Amino acid sequence: MVGPGTPIALKCEYQSNPLGIDVEYPRFSWMVNDESRGAVQTAYQLLVASSADILEKDRGDVWDSEKIFSDQNHLITYDGPALASGRRYFWKVRTWNRDDQASGYSVPSYWEMAMLTPGDWSAKWIGKDEKGRPPRSIMLRKEFSIDEDIQDARLYITGLGNYIVYINGRKVGEDLLTPGWTDYPTKVQYQTYDVTSHLKNGKNAIGAVLGNMWWSSGLGWRGGVAYSDGPLRLFAQMKIRTPGEEQWIVTDDSWKLTYSPFVENTIYHGVTYDARLEQPGWNEGDFDDTSWEKAILIEDEGRRLVAQQGPPIRITERKKAVAIREVKPGVYLFDFGVNMVGYVRLRVEGSKGSRIKMRFAELLNEGDTVAQENLRSAIATDYYICKGDGIEEFEPFFTYHGFRYVQVEGLEKVPDESTLTGLVFHSAADATGEFSCSADILNAFYGNIFRGQIGNMHSVPTDCPQRDERLGWMGDAQIFAATSSYNMNMANFYKKWMRDIIDCQDPEGFVHDVNPAIVVKGPSKPAWGDAVVVVPWEVYRFYGDKRIIEESYEGMKAWVEYMRAKSVNDLYIWSNEDSTWFGYGDWIAVEPSPAQPISVAYYYYSTKLLGKMAGIIGKESDAIAYDDLAARIKIAFNEKYLNRETNSYEGGTQTANLLPLAFGLVPEGLEDEVARNIADNVLEKGKHPTTGFLGTKYILPLLSDYGYHQLAYETAIQTTYPSWGYMVENGATSVWELWNSDTEPPEGMNSRNHFALGSVGEWYYGYLAGIRPDPEVPGFKRSIIRPLPAAGLEWAKASLETIYGLLSVSWNQTDSQFKIDVSIPPNTFSEIHFPVSNEKKIIESGQVIFENKEVTGDPDQFKRLNSPDDEIVIEIGSGDYYFIVE
Ligand code: BGC
Repeated sequence: MVGPGTPIALKCEYQSNPLGIDVEYPRFSWMVNDESRGAVQTAYQLLVASSADILEKDRGDVWDSEKIFSDQNHLITYDGPALASGRRYFWKVRTWNRDDQASGYSVPSYWEMAMLTPGDWSAKWIGKDEKGRPPRSIMLRKEFSIDEDIQDARLYITGLGNYIVYINGRKVGEDLLTPGWTDYPTKVQYQTYDVTSHLKNGKNAIGAVLGNMWWSSGLGWRGGVAYSDGPLRLFAQMKIRTPGEEQWIVTDDSWKLTYSPFVENTIYHGVTYDARLEQPGWNEGDFDDTSWEKAILIEDEGRRLVAQQGPPIRITERKKAVAIREVKPGVYLFDFGVNMVGYVRLRVEGSKGSRIKMRFAELLNEGDTVAQENLRSAIATDYYICKGDGIEEFEPFFTYHGFRYVQVEGLEKVPDESTLTGLVFHSAADATGEFSCSADILNAFYGNIFRGQIGNMHSVPTDCPQRDERLGWMGDAQIFAATSSYNMNMANFYKKWMRDIIDCQDPEGFVHDVNPAIVVKGPSKPAWGDAVVVVPWEVYRFYGDKRIIEESYEGMKAWVEYMRAKSVNDLYIWSNEDSTWFGYGDWIAVEPSPAQPISVAYYYYSTKLLGKMAGIIGKESDAIAYDDLAARIKIAFNEKYLNRETNSYEGGTQTANLLPLAFGLVPEGLEDEVARNIADNVLEKGKHPTTGFLGTKYILPLLSDYGYHQLAYETAIQTTYPSWGYMVENGATSVWELWNSDTEPPEGMNSRNHFALGSVGEWYYGYLAGIRPDPEVPGFKRSIIRPLPAAGLEWAKASLETIYGLLSVSWNQTDSQFKIDVSIPPNTFSEIHFPVSNEKKIIESGQVIFENKEVTGDPDQFKRLNSPDDEIVIEIGSGDYYFIVE
């Protein structure tokens, strides 16, 4: 017998070989490398060493876990002595299989600790003693020399607002919009870069440019409510290791500064860059900076410095225009084919002082000029003023736009496709999911959902990427959390955002509607504030990560207690500020639902989830207390809102009945009746959803769960208003904010890139293809595979790069056969539901494995689970399977 292969895909805190980890007890994950069916890990041994050489000798001088009997290969917590700031640690792991055979050790990996204590910093915040609304961009520089051989160098750097940094003329790192967005009064992230290859012996220089972005652009539609009017500031510390001593370069008052060529820059309005103001060589050694002024020290206002927490913002796609048209004399329209988010790189030849104007838009006027009305006060225009020096290239750096079209004026030559390159960038979490099926309308909308997701991941989940908003709206995010977690690995992204939410939480217990909290401050509204509970729960379901629950626990609890404190007369009916207004309700619904029951339904849901999560992290008495509170809310809810004659909830709309059914509020035994009301309503509406943000997430899953799957499918492929298909048929290439964005006036609230109505993606993956996490054994350690074919759909498939490996399902049906191929990652299990009566026979890889209601295949491989007559349910372990049901 051969043992397992050496473990692969080693990750520390979900990243491979990360620099800049400031987690005291980091966690390790790997994939078990064993293709055989039913492969499990029975034990592991993990070694952490202080050098690659020591590790090579199979010694863990820092930590040797020794052989641990465990089936866990994800998020194993480091359990050795305290780790040191700035140190690199090397690690590897081996595993044992069911027969106690050991694998070899994995290829070595490493991670590097960042700064763990305030005492690790000797840098100071520096800048120019100048404020402004917004402040003008500056650039800063420092020259230094290195006399000894350079072994290795790290740069730890941050700024307020955003920075771009160069060493010896070369830009450091690929990240954009650094340092990312956090609640700046509380904390700011820093980035860690390996800059060894940027440095040389002799004279060197480091130079940084600062712009406003989230810090001092002025955010919000109320004329711009800035966090700050400056000064812009930089904070950096570089450690250079040589055979002799360590050399440190830090920001202090020996740096020099001057205005940069970014003469204007704000997040919403765009950038004006005057290339005539460039100073060639400014970020290299041997530059004459005598005319520059001295940087001043800026008071450290006590904000925390934390290492980069979510995935950095990076370019993931470079696009050429699909069409370029001259729409008026000298005015060119670039069409990028789809609604994208990022900005364009300009490549141009022009005479000195000629000004290129680029206006960004999602829409066109008649005559094909750009229509910017739906951006409201966002001007979304970049200007580049040429220096007149051959071919010039420009990236605006301190802004981003949501656009399909760019209108360009001021060119001296006819442009071609090399003139503009569309750069798509976003918080670059790993893409994990794929879905497709035989219904093209669903494939098209699936693409829109993905585009909507990446278009709204800029350090925080935003509502939209284009107008004067782009804020971390809580309701949007919680509704889309599950779909997003199929599409990409969102664990670190949400973990970082949860910290932002809790940083801003009020001492009274409430969280805010948007986080970082700005523009819309004050107690959050029902279903919006509940993101503080729902998001950690989704991260737990999808990634089995308990730490997000532990970290967020007090914050979630304070929110639930806040709602309890605001409940009227102990009736468990919570109201936000007074008892007449209950928040946003089922936002943008075609048929609005009463808002008060929605608030109580969410109060129940959060309380129930809190109780469940308390149990998961061992807080038994809280688990009991919140279960009990939830039970009381349930009684009050049904007394007040359920009509016992019709079995319909107040309002009788789709959403009015969907939320109670989804959350488990419906009294036992009445679920089918409530579901029937929903189905009747959908039929009455001609197979259309009339839901808003909140109900949309649940409508198709609940129809499918309660026996109306065919109706769910026909609603999903609907192309008349209101429907997802209607968006596609009317030209949507991302997800609209409104079901009727095409007919509503543009000036108000009408974005073409809001992901909320994209929450239907969860049904594509989880119901049509049929891949779902089992919350009892989360993170897809145990998955549920339950494909639901529909009449008219020939095939569907989905795959998911889980933390254990690739999980995939592909099915197709003909009149005589249902075939399904599945692939289950090593060290995981799957409960697979065949959508056929238990009279049927199942053949797997040519062998009959189920017949006459019994498993006839290898009982070690196929385990019969209890199932209703119209399904066959078996449990299988890892491996590739090819099932046919005749
Ligand atoms: C945002 C939404 C948000 C809503 C709250 C809008 O302006 O764009 O997506 O959730 O306000 O009502």
